[in-house]
Amino acid sequence: MAGSTQVSFVDGQAGELLYRGYSIKELAKYSSFDEVSYLLLCGKLPSQDELYDWKTLLAATRKLEPESERLLWNIKLFHEPATPMDVLRTALSDLALRQMNIDNTSQLSLIAHGITLISQHPTLVAAYHRIHRNQPPVGPLPEIGHAANFLWMLTGTVPSDEEVRALDIALILHADHGYNASTFTARVCASTGSDIFSCICAAIGALKGPRHGGANVNVFRMLQEIRDPKKVEGYFSSQLEQNPKWRIPGFGHRIYKTKDPRAQILKPLAKEICHQKRLPWFDIALEVEKQALTLFRKRGKEDLQCNVDFYSAPLFGALGIDPDFFPCMFALARTPGLVAQCMEEYENGRIIRPLNVYTGSPLRSYVQLKDR
Ligand SMILES: CC(C)(COP(=O)(O)OP(=O)(O)OC[C@H]1O[C@@H](n2cnc3c(N)ncnc32)[C@H](O)[C@@H]1OP(=O)(O)O)[C@@H](O)C(=O)NCCC(=O)NCCS
Repeated sequence: MAGSTQVSFVDGQAGELLYRGYSIKELAKYSSFDEVSYLLLCGKLPSQDELYDWKTLLAATRKLEPESERLLWNIKLFHEPATPMDVLRTALSDLALRQMNIDNTSQLSLIAHGITLISQHPTLVAAYHRIHRNQPPVGPLPEIGHAANFLWMLTGTVPSDEEVRALDIALILHADHGYNASTFTARVCASTGSDIFSCICAAIGALKGPRHGGANVNVFRMLQEIRDPKKVEGYFSSQLEQNPKWRIPGFGHRIYKTKDPRAQILKPLAKEICHQKRLPWFDIALEVEKQALTLFRKRGKEDLQCNVDFYSAPLFGALGIDPDFFPCMFALARTPGLVAQCMEEYENGRIIRPLNVYTGSPLRSYVQLKDR
């Protein structure tokens, strides 16, 4: 047992995920990402006035800072091969340098920094999405919300209501997930008493890996390679021929031994947006899921199901997001959960220092260099 949390509960047997006791199924149906970020950080659902104030605070910190823009252009100019996750980690680290009192870990200060992180994160991702294509960043619009602003800042076009709602729900579904690898990394950092920006940068490092937040890009690359639902079977045969232990991206989970509830909610959203835009990604994904489940059944591994990354990939692709930026989508949506979990860790005030088993040599005598 690594620790405890009141922020979220992942029930891997029942396929249920709760934020502060509320099911994500209800939150996805009735709430918004802004409500959920308030819920995670403040521990309760906001009243109408509280939500209004929360949105106002987020809007007030959404604009791209000139120093951030300069940094992103410099990265584009001098470090072209950097992945968007590397850029995001660097940009957040740079943002931290301009914040007041980052070492203050009082709950009030953490909420203030949390608001900056939640609102700046999408701004930085959208800005670099444009800059890496040599397009100037687009500033936020005061009259539209969090998800709508992200799509606006990405494309410079006002998104449809369906696109905004689909993205908002996807963000809700990624907002927290118990002691996953990146959250635990952030908590370890917080447990040392380090600042919240360092915790988020550490988490981004862990989230980048292909076994974690980097899986969604591999799902989309697979869909792109397949190109046509009719080619899924042939693609599977050739992958398995090359590597019988081939890991199908977007399947399997350490905790869920049944359907991942997030994937179930994302599936119809991905269908709606892909079909609306006449894009093949959902239809290919559906066929991949069918073939994968058949394969897992044959292997007696019925507990392997698609995870959150499987249907978020066709959805993000249909929303016009570059696949290389998909892990950043995961990261920007996870920010409220990370901040809330770190707030708990600061309250604990005790360093995380797990015990480990030593499997090296027993005590031996030092051999002088000349005698080796
Ligand atoms: C998520 C993941 C890292 C969980 O790993 P884990 O809990 O350590 O599971 P294991 O690696 O022990 O795998 C258990 C068995 O299932 C198989 N398996 C797990 N995921 C698989 C996949 N995506 N495709 C095919 N087989 C898979 C393993 O080969 C292993 O089989 P074995 O017992 O015959 O060796 C793993 O399922 C994975 O690599 N998935 C693909 C990447 C991904 O989608 N990550 C995003 C997670 S949200």
